[in-house]
Amino acid sequence: MGARPASTVRSKQSAPQQDQIFDSHPEVSLDFECVRQAAQQRYTRPFLIIDNAIVRAKLERFRAAMPRIRPHYAVKANPDHRVLRTLAQNGSGFEIASVAELDLLLALGVPAAEIFYSNPVKARDSIAYAAQKGVEWYVVDSVDEMRRVHEVMPDAKQYLRIATPNIGSDWPLAGKFGAGTAEIRECIAYASRHRIDLAGITFHVGSQCRNPENWRVGIEKARALFDAMVKAGLKPRMLDIGGGYPVRHVKPIPSIEVIGEVVNRALEAFPDDVRVIAEPGRFLVSDAGYFVCRVLGTATRGGKRWMHWDAGMFGGVIETTEGLKYRIRCDRSGPDVPWTVAGPTCDSVDIVMRDELLPSDLQEGDFIYIKNAGAYTTAYASQFNGFPLPEVRVIDARGD
Ligand SMILES: Cc1ncc(COP(=O)(O)O)c(C=O)c1O
Repeated sequence: MGARPASTVRSKQSAPQQDQIFDSHPEVSLDFECVRQAAQQRYTRPFLIIDNAIVRAKLERFRAAMPRIRPHYAVKANPDHRVLRTLAQNGSGFEIASVAELDLLLALGVPAAEIFYSNPVKARDSIAYAAQKGVEWYVVDSVDEMRRVHEVMPDAKQYLRIATPNIGSDWPLAGKFGAGTAEIRECIAYASRHRIDLAGITFHVGSQCRNPENWRVGIEKARALFDAMVKAGLKPRMLDIGGGYPVRHVKPIPSIEVIGEVVNRALEAFPDDVRVIAEPGRFLVSDAGYFVCRVLGTATRGGKRWMHWDAGMFGGVIETTEGLKYRIRCDRSGPDVPWTVAGPTCDSVDIVMRDELLPSDLQEGDFIYIKNAGAYTTAYASQFNGFPLPEVRVIDARGD
């Protein structure tokens, strides 16, 4: 395929210094006054308010930072049909985990060829359904999956998910998916033996990844694997650098522009005819939304202050349970004290924050506003214990 050798990928020495990469660009968030008004006007249950104008701006910013890369939005981050439509209308492709997500996109008129099936384990009938609808690209990370996809759809274009470092990611995804060195060798040999069109490589650096070097390492590894695949008689022609692009909460983040510099340089080792895509989820929708819920009640237990919200880990506030720290606002201004924050259900796991510093005078009925929460909130929510799903209110602050 005439690729430039892997050794031309930039060296470690030219990586940006860690102290230069954080918070180097302004970030935009949904206007707080608009959120506050929305809560005052009508409140029946927790809601996410999301501004499609910001979604569009983030898509543009992603493309400007990495012009060679086509973003394929990860539907799982926020599958609201109005958000999906905005992304589709503005030229995004998509990545799906299930046929339900596929149906959402098809209903919006998204061409199946724009949709990548990036779940490394798929039921046979899901593969058959996607194939019948015209989906061309299927991820695999094992010989078992490769065989299954091939049996159901012999002409599928398969792409191999490889394990790469998730160091510095607030929501790591390593440890479940991704072929290791031995399995990669097996997969390449199997594809070659069985004339499977193993056509690409993908990896995921971990969600909310604050370490741009993870992408460099992944791209370099993919570059070396392209050579190995060519040697095995395969035709690698697609690189998918996955998701993970962070948004600002409490900890500093490298901007998309800084990540873009690292990625763009690493991509120079790939010839121009290699198609490069990415699967941003959080980056495109998080900053566009505020999640709003209410204090149900407070209590003192064992000398500690507890606060119960009407949305907890089953109602959309789940990422805090793995350590993600949101910026939380309210309408009180008392001195901050440590609170244990729980959801409304009877389940003892429904505790979303411990020792979170929030105003001491918060009380029953107060609104809680969680900033930059457009991703992985409503998408995770269930009706466990009979509590309602959060509402999703979509606005378009630029009015189109
Ligand atoms: C296969 C795949 N692609 C993309 C994403 C999106 O990741 P993020 O929202 O961190 O960009 C995920 C998230 O879990 C994923 O599993």
